Amino acid sequence: MPDTFEPHNIIVTGGCGFIGSNFVRWVAREHPGVHVTVLDKLTYAGNPANIAGLPESQVELVVGDICDADLLDRLVPGHDAIVHYAAESHNDNSIANPEPFVQTNVVGTYRLLEACRKYNVRYHHVSTDEVYGDLALDEPRRFRPDDPYKPSSPYSSSKASSDLLVCAWHRTYGIRATISNCSNNYGPYQHVEKFIPRQVTNILCGIRPKLYGTGENVRDWIHTEDHSRAVWDILTKGRIGETYLIGADGERSNIEVLRQILSIMGQPEDAFDWVRDRPGHDRRYAIDPTKLREELGWRPIHTDFSEGLAQTIEWYRSHEDWWRPAKEATEVKYAAQGQ
Ligand code: NAD
Ligand code: TYD
Repeated sequence: MPDTFEPHNIIVTGGCGFIGSNFVRWVAREHPGVHVTVLDKLTYAGNPANIAGLPESQVELVVGDICDADLLDRLVPGHDAIVHYAAESHNDNSIANPEPFVQTNVVGTYRLLEACRKYNVRYHHVSTDEVYGDLALDEPRRFRPDDPYKPSSPYSSSKASSDLLVCAWHRTYGIRATISNCSNNYGPYQHVEKFIPRQVTNILCGIRPKLYGTGENVRDWIHTEDHSRAVWDILTKGRIGETYLIGADGERSNIEVLRQILSIMGQPEDAFDWVRDRPGHDRRYAIDPTKLREELGWRPIHTDFSEGLAQTIEWYRSHEDWWRPAKEATEVKYAAQGQ
């Protein structure tokens, strides 16, 4: 029987980033009785505009670093849960400079776990399917919760490290923790460094989209709102100490996704550049979400990828003021890497 938990006053770390802010807006809409304290350092990836307009009585932003133990001592008491999204999240950045990944993803998680231990606060850890490494393009297998960890990049290894800290803090200190490992998210408010927003905003700027390697790599796409609902279900109904994989049967090759973007945006199907591949590039991710579906009854709502993609493209078209300030610097960085 799953444990049930009714949160009233939660901390959401990284709530000004892509997935965290979608979660905060989702909670504000679906659970108006729950107070949310967003703890966010506002790195290049964090933007307070992502949670602007939410009721001040319900959502409060605290600008700070999850690695700051004194801040956590002041902030955590009085809250009943931490939902931990904050991270350095981009593989390409981790290859160029791994240091902040170890600091935020590993040390930051350690600090949050210590705060949860000290103040007896429930903890949900948001992680990635990339901790399992990759799959061959043609094997029928998908990732399952008990698969061995085999991360490839500095990013995925830092996330894997943080997951293992959570498991140890649960087993040794009895922290009330759950972990979720989700596949690739898409939707509004995603930084222009990531695959889908980069290609869409390239086209909007008159720059050709850039495809790494052969374009055959497969990602398992899920709409960020379906991810939010899964995290809520795990937080409120999941079994303590358990790992749940979140995925929506959305496997597609990168070239397939790019061709869909080009088609929706009225571009010829070959109007893109092949660029240098990512070192250590994972071939395929794919999630078996059976445990989440059968134990917690979760189902994705956004099952039509073309429709979700078209809505996402429309969002970028109508929110140029949101993405424009980050675009040029992002492309300068990619150009320096030959990508
Ligand atoms: P993001 O890069 O868009 O946002 C990260 C947020 O964390 C930003 O608001 C940033 O300011 C904040 N942050 C970074 N370092 C911090 C620190 N030291 N202290 C406080 N705040 C800090 O990331 P995202 O894509 O929204 O990913 C969120 C989480 O979901 C991450 O843990 C990531 O590993 C996980 N995840 C992402 C995906 C995906 O497709 N993007 C898939 C599965 C899991
Ligand atoms: P990304 O959004 O960085 O997510 P992740 O590395 O977590 O899967 O990349 C998704 C896929 O798209 C990945 O296989 C790398 C590829 N990619 C490109 O082909 N071109 C690009 O410009 C980017 C940013 C990514």
